[in-house]
Amino acid sequence: MRSTFVISALVAVVAALPAPAPQEIDLSLFANIPTPTVIQATGTPDKIVTYDTKAILASATAASSISVAVSNAASSAASIVKRSACGPEPTGYGPVTTSPKDDAASFLANPVYGNTANAAAVPAGYVQTFKNLNASSSAYGYLGFTNLKSYDPSTCAAKCNAIKGCMGINVYFERDPKYTPDKTLCPNPASLTQIKCVYWGGPVTAANTNNPGRTWVQFSVVVAGSNGYVNQNIAAPSGYSDANYLGNVAINAPYDALGYNTYMGAKVFAAGPFNASLCAEACNAQNVYNLANPPTDGSPVQTCQFFNTYILSLNGKTALGQYCAMYSSTWANKYATNAGQYQGNDHYTVGFSYSFSNLTNAGTTPNPAAAIAQAKGEISASSLQSYCSTFLGYNDLNAYTTATSTTIPVSTVTSTSTLKVKASSSTSSSSSSSKTSSLSKRALPSSSSLATPTALTKYPGSIIFSACSALVTKVPKTATVTVSTATVTGATSKSTIIKTVTTTTR
Ligand SMILES: *[C@@H]1O[C@H](CO)[C@@H](O)[C@H](O)[C@H]1NC(C)=O
Ligand SMILES: *[C@@H]1O[C@H](CO)[C@@H](O)[C@H](O)[C@H]1NC(C)=O
Ligand SMILES: *[C@@H]1O[C@H](CO)[C@@H](O)[C@H](O)[C@H]1NC(C)=O
Repeated sequence: MRSTFVISALVAVVAALPAPAPQEIDLSLFANIPTPTVIQATGTPDKIVTYDTKAILASATAASSISVAVSNAASSAASIVKRSACGPEPTGYGPVTTSPKDDAASFLANPVYGNTANAAAVPAGYVQTFKNLNASSSAYGYLGFTNLKSYDPSTCAAKCNAIKGCMGINVYFERDPKYTPDKTLCPNPASLTQIKCVYWGGPVTAANTNNPGRTWVQFSVVVAGSNGYVNQNIAAPSGYSDANYLGNVAINAPYDALGYNTYMGAKVFAAGPFNASLCAEACNAQNVYNLANPPTDGSPVQTCQFFNTYILSLNGKTALGQYCAMYSSTWANKYATNAGQYQGNDHYTVGFSYSFSNLTNAGTTPNPAAAIAQAKGEISASSLQSYCSTFLGYNDLNAYTTATSTTIPVSTVTSTSTLKVKASSSTSSSSSSSKTSSLSKRALPSSSSLATPTALTKYPGSIIFSACSALVTKVPKTATVTVSTATVTGATSKSTIIKTVTTTTR
């Protein structure tokens, strides 16, 4: 005989739990973002490119409350300067190569560029990422360039420091035409040498320094003595700890001490300079949204108290954007173990990774109520109520049922049905059979013989106990349930147990 009551209202709690550790990089966030093209640092020197951060933020946090027109975004393309045919190009201050010829090969073979680059001092507050390459960088968040009068990375860095969002610089010698090349009038003018200082919103690395130059009509623009430096002073968003540098790895947080998954998902920003504040704003916007839409089961609202933001690159070369992973608690550097992942032959890598923690509440104390709510959701989603029933039966024999009439069976229970079985009857699979030997097991409460389902192994027993109890206490206090008629074969006789549950004790 099956019981008639159903544990209601507790099954509809959690539909899909967030992905557990490891936090895969959500590459789908990049699905609609075009792969950036190589940016040439050309056009007007000292014209700093600006970005509309509000629009960038809005495009990445579409689901939340922020809304501005995405079309407000400023163009990241370098402005094209129209010059008259064979008119003068900007003055170059670097050493010019004319020997053995005024051509690209002679320029590249001239040791003066490499010697200068190799001897240059690293600017204060910066880290050198590469030295003396024959290419310029194409990094994340182009911000413009300056033509320097001498090969001095410190001058370039000082200018970068004054530009909002500048995170990396590329200093190099570039062979440029003295006059604007023209197809018929001057297809291959004499050269001059520019010393370029290019500003980037993300890290310049050897891997993204692969732009050897270009052919301009018949003139060969080539690059030599190219050095890269990255600024490690990232401004902390207000209300957050100072930037914590993680290098080329992302946080891969385990469950917390109570089995709770603190990962809250990710956002991506695909334009403008690397900006930790964008991630902080996404974090805050998520909190506003979550607080306005609390869980319906009364469990605590999960809020973002910590984030890890980094540049995600494709095959080490192309910076795709700024990734922003959000967490409800702070994770130490030792959990930064995700160096990227493969999708087919494409390797997605992490760089310029920083973490930030909420100054007033780092979210480090595990919250039992949150863990219990998550466990309840998992129990329901995986139909583990029968396990719960058995678990509670072992550990808390009469806590939730009072039998008016019980006879301890003397031997094998051939057919019985108990409330504990009924507790599982709210879901399909476990409710089909009521034939258990639970009564005899009750007499021998050795909980060690009960295997914990894989989904619940991350929880301490106290959390499982609370979650299971919360599910079972949904039994109405006034429930009167005739449980079963069980026939028990004893050693010497056959007896019948009538077990009737009249009430619950909690
Ligand atoms: C740059 O070009 C010169 C001349 O071709 C060559 O000797 C040198 O090895 C090149 N440097 C790099 C890093 O490729
Ligand atoms: C970074 O983002 C914040 C918040 O949106 C914005 O106020 C700030 O101007 C941005 N900084 C840069 C360098 O774009
Ligand atoms: C830090 O966390 C507290 C508590 O959740 C919150 O009230 C505050 O707004 C957070 N600070 C920032 C800067 O998000």
